[in-house]
Amino acid sequence: MSVRRAVAMGAGAALPERVVTNTELAASVDTTHDWIVERTGIHQRHIAADGQLTSDLATDAARRALAMAGMDVGDIDLIVLATATPDQTFPSTATRVQHNLGMKHGCAFDVQAVCSGFVYALTVATQFIETGKARGAVVIGAETFSRILDWSDRATCVLFGDGAGAVVLRGEDGTGTTDDRGVLSTELRSDGQHNTALYVDGGPSSTGVAGHLRMNGREVFKHAVRNLAEIGEAALATAGLTSDDVSWVIPHQANARIIASTAQKIGVPMERVIVTVQDHANTSAASIPLALDVAIRDGRIQPGDLLLLEAMGGGFTWGAAALRW
Ligand code: ACO
Repeated sequence: MSVRRAVAMGAGAALPERVVTNTELAASVDTTHDWIVERTGIHQRHIAADGQLTSDLATDAARRALAMAGMDVGDIDLIVLATATPDQTFPSTATRVQHNLGMKHGCAFDVQAVCSGFVYALTVATQFIETGKARGAVVIGAETFSRILDWSDRATCVLFGDGAGAVVLRGEDGTGTTDDRGVLSTELRSDGQHNTALYVDGGPSSTGVAGHLRMNGREVFKHAVRNLAEIGEAALATAGLTSDDVSWVIPHQANARIIASTAQKIGVPMERVIVTVQDHANTSAASIPLALDVAIRDGRIQPGDLLLLEAMGGGFTWGAAALRW
């Protein structure tokens, strides 16, 4: 039986030019390189230039993904952009990217699930493609978290960075087996009772200003490993796969300790986990497609590889996807 699949055709990334090392940060924040590396694995982060917007990074990433796919905007009719740091309250950052790409047809919208945003956006785009509502889609995770950090709060400002990543999907008919290329399963969860563990203390309807990120790091850590392992295993089970089938885990890049503990729980050795947190820090919704782009361009990910994407973020939200590249 033929089954419509959302097949990944290309990936792209964009990082601001400016790199800020831990040592540079320690000149203005009461911290040390060693503390940050030991607790998080982060060595550096990219920070957007003045005037460089989330939509600018997203547009560059989308262009590179389309180029890798050998496709143009005529081949897509959907843009789903995950961000918690939009250019403006409205219009959506996705419509700005649509305009930048010169696309006047189809539809574009944002989704908001913070660090899980890319998995949420991928899930939405997959539904559009599997139901025939879209032929092709660009799925983007893009953030400028540097703009919502409290740079006097050492417990949070050292953890995040800016960037964008994108994946181009195209509808293709598969056989309905796990040998098919494309998205094989997705699983999403949320639990709003944890709203106050990780949040921004502002917004249009509360304070009228964007606000700053606040986090109870220990609380987040506690839930992260359990939720990520559970959702990763659920996505594999839904597809009829096990951890032995996984070629690469591409986790949300928040913290090297969370990544390692989750991989151990799922039963995948670290040699099969893509880790970029040392170079990018936590770029929220952008972190998975940024890591994916690195591993595709350096040749680790090959066509036919089975990828397990997993993420958790504020809300809490969490999600995972099994995808054959
Ligand atoms: N430099 C030096 N010391 C620091 C820093 C810093 N940047 N930040 C905090 N400290 C100090 C604290 O003040 C505290 O000092 P005290 O003992 O004198 O009071 C001490 O370090 C320990 O602080 P904790 O917050 O308990 O440190 P912990 O070991 O829990 O590490 C961290 C903090 C890294 C944030 C950890 O809790 C964590 O990784 N949590 C997960 C959070 C995360 O990854 N969030 C990302 C978003 S959510 C997601 O993407 C999944």
